[in-house]
Amino acid sequence: MWRELAEYARWAPSPHNTQPTRLRIVDGERAEVQFVAERGLPVGDPQGKFTHMTFGIFVETLRIAAHARGHELEVAYTGEPLYRDRRPLQKVAELRLLPRGQPIEDIDPELILRRRTNRHPYNNRPVLPEVLADLRDETRRHGHAFHTSTDPRAIQSVKELNRDSLYHDLAHAEYREELDSWLRYSDAEAARTGDGLSTRTLVLPSWLMKGVMRAHWLFSAPVIEQVTKRVYMRTMKGISTVGWIQGDFVDAEDWTAAGHLMMRLWLVLTGHGVDWQPYGSIITNDDSRRSMVEKFGMEEGDGGRDMVWLLVRMGYCDHEPARSQRLALAEVLR
Ligand SMILES: Cc1cc2nc3c(=O)[nH]c(=O)nc-3n(C[C@H](O)[C@H](O)[C@H](O)COP(=O)(O)O)c2cc1C
Repeated sequence: MWRELAEYARWAPSPHNTQPTRLRIVDGERAEVQFVAERGLPVGDPQGKFTHMTFGIFVETLRIAAHARGHELEVAYTGEPLYRDRRPLQKVAELRLLPRGQPIEDIDPELILRRRTNRHPYNNRPVLPEVLADLRDETRRHGHAFHTSTDPRAIQSVKELNRDSLYHDLAHAEYREELDSWLRYSDAEAARTGDGLSTRTLVLPSWLMKGVMRAHWLFSAPVIEQVTKRVYMRTMKGISTVGWIQGDFVDAEDWTAAGHLMMRLWLVLTGHGVDWQPYGSIITNDDSRRSMVEKFGMEEGDGGRDMVWLLVRMGYCDHEPARSQRLALAEVLR
């Protein structure tokens, strides 16, 4: 059964498609989730917030698939900090399958296989109110709040903030180096590695990405940077709805819980035929996050309490996004 569940979890999303989680099967009932340190993002995500979210996302896919097969999935996270020692593999959770005799009502696991990140231009249709209501209900059940805006000025600000925080990060050599190691400049390269961000899924030309990463001195020249920004912003056309999630995001327990919620929301959207793209760098870049909070008059608590931990563009799209690659099942079960 673990192998069947892993077939779904293999398709779980992760930042830069790093796929940092492994499932070590102990026996028919028990398994462990392990973190592959060399697939972490110590520069882009030094505290491991997004990485812990990825553990939650991975476990949530296993759980949804287990429910359809009549099993509850119990999880105990270790909550240990990442990168503390140089262990190549770190146990992050213990899992247990509990048979319930019949399927447990939940999200359809087939949606896990359909879900994708869509970075194409959207088609201007605002997300339907009933979809937003479903998202709000699901978010509330997890003790968080889902907010949206369809105000064109707010949407423009979000797009610009996302662009600026990305370009701010790209100005740092170590950030570029880390991102470059996950960029796949051709379909063949992406298929060979089975991971990473292909320029096709990013909807950006390979020459541009390679230039920004590897000839930054040239591509950061004002005139050329204007061109690359314009190309990037072209992919952001047609957005009529932006959303953000707010809730406690203080420690590893919160971060994994946020991952569980993020995955469920993504699948709810997939079920409604709605796409989204997370704007992660606004969250991982503290200055950008603070300026977003100020700009939109968002009320946050202190020290990560009631924090805005996810910002997304959402909508309908006339382009089917390319399928991002995945490692083979044998690698996930290594
Ligand atoms: C926590 C998290 C943060 C992410 N942040 C971004 C982001 O900032 N920009 C983006 O385009 N995609 C972002 N993604 C989407 C991933 O890049 C994507 O899931 C991965 O490349 C696999 O592609 P898929 O979702 O189409 O399967 C994020 C995903 C996760 C789980």
